[in-house]
Amino acid sequence: MEYIAAAAFGLEGIVRRELNRLGLDAKGEQGGARFEATPAQAFEANLWLRTADRVLLVAGEGKVLSFEELFQLVQSLPWEDYLPRNARFPVSGKCARSQLMSVRDCQAITKKAIVERLKRHYRTQWFEEDGPEFPVDVSIHGDMARLTLDPSGAALNRRGYRTWNGEAPLRETLAAALVMLSPWRGDQPLWDPCCGTGTLLIEAAFQRAHRAPGLSRSFACESWPCFPKKAMQEARAEAEARFDPSLIGMIGGSDIDPEALTLCKRHIKQAGLGGRITVEQKDLRDLTLDAPSLLFLLNPPYGERLSDRKKCEYLYRDLRALSDRHPGSRMAVITAHNGFERCYGKRAVQKRRLYNGRLECEFMIY
Ligand SMILES: C[S@@+](CC[C@H](N)C(=O)[O-])C[C@H]1O[C@@H](n2cnc3c(N)ncnc32)[C@H](O)[C@@H]1O
Repeated sequence: MEYIAAAAFGLEGIVRRELNRLGLDAKGEQGGARFEATPAQAFEANLWLRTADRVLLVAGEGKVLSFEELFQLVQSLPWEDYLPRNARFPVSGKCARSQLMSVRDCQAITKKAIVERLKRHYRTQWFEEDGPEFPVDVSIHGDMARLTLDPSGAALNRRGYRTWNGEAPLRETLAAALVMLSPWRGDQPLWDPCCGTGTLLIEAAFQRAHRAPGLSRSFACESWPCFPKKAMQEARAEAEARFDPSLIGMIGGSDIDPEALTLCKRHIKQAGLGGRITVEQKDLRDLTLDAPSLLFLLNPPYGERLSDRKKCEYLYRDLRALSDRHPGSRMAVITAHNGFERCYGKRAVQKRRLYNGRLECEFMIY
């Protein structure tokens, strides 16, 4: 079966590499990476992918110029191979640059076509829809329609450790990508001096400890009859066995805000990493660490409001002072503030454009 690991703009290549490391031959495309897999392999992708938003099963694709053609395309697909008689199948949709402008109509037509197909197969006129959920999506771009099922269920950034968001937290998938793109070698100390609710710290520790990001959550496909229960249980057991918190070296963080730190400590505990990550309340202007070849990895405030912009510029100068207090350290920073390098007083050796939600950012490495 064919799948797409959907990813945020700019992370497609990283997702492709993650799939390759799982032994899957994937091709990057806009919005993600496409790969062929068995259901068991697709479950493993859900369990292990750190930077993808979802793993979608491609039910079918085709050119559609009218609602009638959309109906015929959807009805021609073998929905009975996936959906049992009692399946719940909500249909979501999106349309871009298409003649079929009404998303609601596309959703309704897709639902009707699937129902008609299943009526014939199951020889019934009525479906209770009280069984497992199979989220269906119809996505129309130009003349092309793509029908997918969503084995992930909740988005993959929902690892299960975050219960309350705090102010401007990083999405877990982006935090995981920043750890991968940073020059951190897992055996060197890592410190986030603006750690907020702790996302970068937890994602770094997960990577170091071989902790599958999806280990403590469930996926929609775990209740699908077309996915092999035993193989999925085995994959979970294997992931459980691979998690080794003793591999985590010095990973820690600090923040000026005590409320963010309360959340941070709670998240660390909920991630099963209690006692493995050090956190303290500290203004980064007062921070001095005794650790050789340290990496500072951080997502500082960006100063999106004009009134905060100046404050941020002072903070970026203070970051330069922090770096100077730690000779031999390196710094990796993501920000949407385009004056970062000027305030920091140095050009980054490497830069990469990424999106934090809708904000265009740069990830700079010193
Ligand atoms: C964008 S948030 C970081 C969010 C974090 N990555 C997360 O996932 O929750 C920026 C953080 O920088 C902290 N901060 C701002 N000024 C600081 C300073 N002078 N010293 C230490 N932390 C500071 C704020 O309290 C805030 O938690």
